[in-house]
Amino acid sequence: MNYWDYIQVESLLSLQQGLHDDGTEPENDEVLFITVHQIYELWFKLVLRELSTARALFRRNPVPDQALADATRSLRRCVRIFEVAAHHWSVVETLTTRDYLAFRDKLVGASGFQSAQVRELEILLGLDDRQRLSCMGEGSYKEALRGDVGDQSPALARVQRRLAEGASYRSALYHWLARTPVDGSSDPAHVDAYLDKFVEAHRKQKKLLLERSRQFTSTPEEVAVLEQRYARDIDQAAAFLRAEDIEDEGERRHRKHVRAALVFIESHRELPRLAWPREVLDTTLNLEQAFIIWRQRHARMVERMIGRRTGTGGSGGVDYLDQTALKYRVFEDLWSVRTILLRRELVPELENAADYRFRVED
Ligand code: HEM
Repeated sequence: MNYWDYIQVESLLSLQQGLHDDGTEPENDEVLFITVHQIYELWFKLVLRELSTARALFRRNPVPDQALADATRSLRRCVRIFEVAAHHWSVVETLTTRDYLAFRDKLVGASGFQSAQVRELEILLGLDDRQRLSCMGEGSYKEALRGDVGDQSPALARVQRRLAEGASYRSALYHWLARTPVDGSSDPAHVDAYLDKFVEAHRKQKKLLLERSRQFTSTPEEVAVLEQRYARDIDQAAAFLRAEDIEDEGERRHRKHVRAALVFIESHRELPRLAWPREVLDTTLNLEQAFIIWRQRHARMVERMIGRRTGTGGSGGVDYLDQTALKYRVFEDLWSVRTILLRRELVPELENAADYRFRVED
């Protein structure tokens, strides 16, 4: 065996011709443009593989402890890839606006918006179609993946295959969380009692805050404003924990347990047997954060490169990209729970803390 055959170097290096199928050579700038896209597509390929692995592990019921370590390993790799990939935008930025405009008009109609692997990534992670922005005057992102005469394309086939795989990583992760015992039990009454205690702890915290603020506020009006603000905070925490924002009753029950498990794991991070669950949550959040930063960084590169003009795919350009970075959230509960976590001394005592220690033989 040799390096060039195994890595298929010659095939790889022959793929940067772009539209120059007449034997002419593309300029350096265009080769750079094509190459960076290809490098990104290769990173996406690896991320998709790792995420599929993590999802398969979470689809098991029960999820064995060892699987949590394996899934975390896959997720960490995805995070590193996105972190590294976000730096590649600075290579694209070695193109000036004029350099890019020299070949941009040839691309009209073609856009990263048609990157099937990015759509696969969103689907596999669990982005809900209802969250998608409609921006291209087209029926959906799937329409943009159709071929010239509206027919099937390899890109669309890829996305359809991914959709046919069913439940996303988010769904698998949330089902695992919904089975996770909270302070030693998954019984709904027990979980409700845990949540009540947590809301009560919030009330205590706000009472302490109010007592402290009274020393610094002079007028009853100021105190009344604070009272109102704190009461609103408590109501919001309670509403979130009881999943009141979710209409469907079955889904509400499911998400209530998901949120209880999140609060429980985050509030008792130091317990030895929560070590892997904690890692899974941290790494999942890291992954979404890295993806968002990648989106934001792409938007800044685009703004620098073409200003606020319309994209080659027909969207509003930078405005659209900024909106995706803001709105395309998959693991909302993992983010939202941070708003209501309490400092350690205020976290309610557990009834079954002993269940979460490692058992050591005497
Ligand atoms: C000069 C370089 C680039 C410019 C000016 C640019 C510009 C844009 C614009 C304006 C959009 C919005 C859709 C549209 O109207 O076309 C877009 C979308 C996109 N671009 Fe780029 N892009 C560049 C390079 C890249 C590279 C190297 C990648 C790597 C794969 C990439 C991936 C994407 C993706 C995935 C989308 C879809 C985003 C979404 O819908 O969430 N772009 N790009």
